[in-house]
Amino acid sequence: MHDEKNTHHTSVRASKVCVVGAGYVGLTAAVCLAELGHTVVCVESNPQRLGMLLRGEVPIHEPGIDELLTRHASSRRLSFTDDVEVAMDGVAVVLLCVGTPPRPDGEPDLRQLGRAATQMVAAARSDVLLIVKSTVPPGSCEALELLAAGHAREGVNVAVASNPEFLREGQAVWDFFNPDRVVVGIDDAQMQHLVTDLYPAQWPLIVCDRRSAELVKYAANTFLAVKISFANEVAQLCEALGADSQKVLAGVGLDARIGGAFLSPGPGFGGSCLPKDLGGFIAVAQSVGQLAPLARAAQVVNGEALVGLLGKLEVALGSLSGKRIAILGLAFKPGTGDVRFSPGVGLADALAERGALVRAHDPVATPVSTTMELVGDPYDAAQRADALVIMTAWPEYRELDHERLRETMSGHVVIDAVNVVSIGEVAHVDFDVYGVGRGLTTDFAPVLWPPLEWMLDAEPRPVTVPQ
Ligand SMILES: NC(=O)c1ccc[n+]([C@@H]2O[C@H](COP(=O)([O-])OP(=O)(O)OC[C@H]3O[C@@H](n4cnc5c(N)ncnc54)[C@H](O)[C@@H]3O)[C@@H](O)[C@H]2O)c1
Repeated sequence: MHDEKNTHHTSVRASKVCVVGAGYVGLTAAVCLAELGHTVVCVESNPQRLGMLLRGEVPIHEPGIDELLTRHASSRRLSFTDDVEVAMDGVAVVLLCVGTPPRPDGEPDLRQLGRAATQMVAAARSDVLLIVKSTVPPGSCEALELLAAGHAREGVNVAVASNPEFLREGQAVWDFFNPDRVVVGIDDAQMQHLVTDLYPAQWPLIVCDRRSAELVKYAANTFLAVKISFANEVAQLCEALGADSQKVLAGVGLDARIGGAFLSPGPGFGGSCLPKDLGGFIAVAQSVGQLAPLARAAQVVNGEALVGLLGKLEVALGSLSGKRIAILGLAFKPGTGDVRFSPGVGLADALAERGALVRAHDPVATPVSTTMELVGDPYDAAQRADALVIMTAWPEYRELDHERLRETMSGHVVIDAVNVVSIGEVAHVDFDVYGVGRGLTTDFAPVLWPPLEWMLDAEPRPVTVPQ
């Protein structure tokens, strides 16, 4: 999966490291650090996850990890355990990669991190550097250092550095070996090499204080969230004006100052990172008396995306009670099986609340849910459906046989929340396709804007904005 020329096996000073947490971030770091030449002990506390790893199975859907796992189980540079004493034997560097999920109030829950840090430090027999790869609010590393120091054996010094992770689920291994930047936040310059030596010297590096490093991650994810919400706001405007959001946003994104990534409208962002880190950014701002109005607006717009989808279904079907709805796509984005804060699962829950009957399909994700029936085939999901909603832009949903879908369904409504259906290709099928910011085929009356008098008068008159 990753680019061999970028692995630079010989360019790191090999060391022994401990990685705590074998999730998307920890498992990726563990296999990739082993690939770089380090000896890695990975600690995982979830018995099911650990059992799978010990059997050589990969507990997450992430291309390339299986190959590296097999290779480095054989090379003996990679091992898994839940025994912290074993893990800390001869280790001076620990990468903390545990979860920092949001609390109900939106602030991050840092208890996994506190527990992991104190456990590892208590088992350390010599000085230890904890490197926080988990996403945390600025100030966390300093606080963690105080907390952990209180659990260290006598004579053992503890330091904490920040090294936020920027990988994208679905391409985590590729991202690890091809980072846009490695950010290292450390206050003791003497220790900097303990972090930077983990990675090839030629990778782009930013070294700064810990708070700045922590804020890089929050600010980057907040910007991405703002960008997605901006795309959704433009798409709303496109729907009202009869413009095509795909063309508009392609035209905007080709501007090198803006860039096209994350500029696609859709069902709103989900996943384990953007909603949580946006909430964290707002909470941090609030804690220092700032309002973070841009970040808040992105949150509001994101919440409206699901409401908009439900509105489209109601316009098309009337009451949703008793209606059969097929959902295609439950992963929060294509390429992953992760359903944390997934718009597809959110939609299923909202539909069930309104009395609709949901059958859903996803090529990878298998959420445990009582609000939908999960089936193994998109055509099976569409059986007798009044409407079909596409929620994840999986490549296979671009290749659907629309005639077969139409024959399977009772109704003819398709809500394409990720704009994968080509309107031209379904023109001959009896479908009403509602995309996002394009292609409303029914009940569509574009407004004329600007009004003609603007073109006749030298001075524009004040006008009322159409509702
Ligand atoms: N998932 C991503 O795409 C991504 C990207 C960048 C940053 N992050 C950040 O990285 C962190 C981890 O995210 P993730 O998605 O990998 O989480 P995850 O929930 O998939 O994995 C965390 C793992 O840590 C294990 N764990 C928790 N406490 C432990 C302990 N005391 N000892 C051993 N194992 C323990 C859990 O069992 C779990 O397997 C979060 O802060 C997240 O915000 C995630």
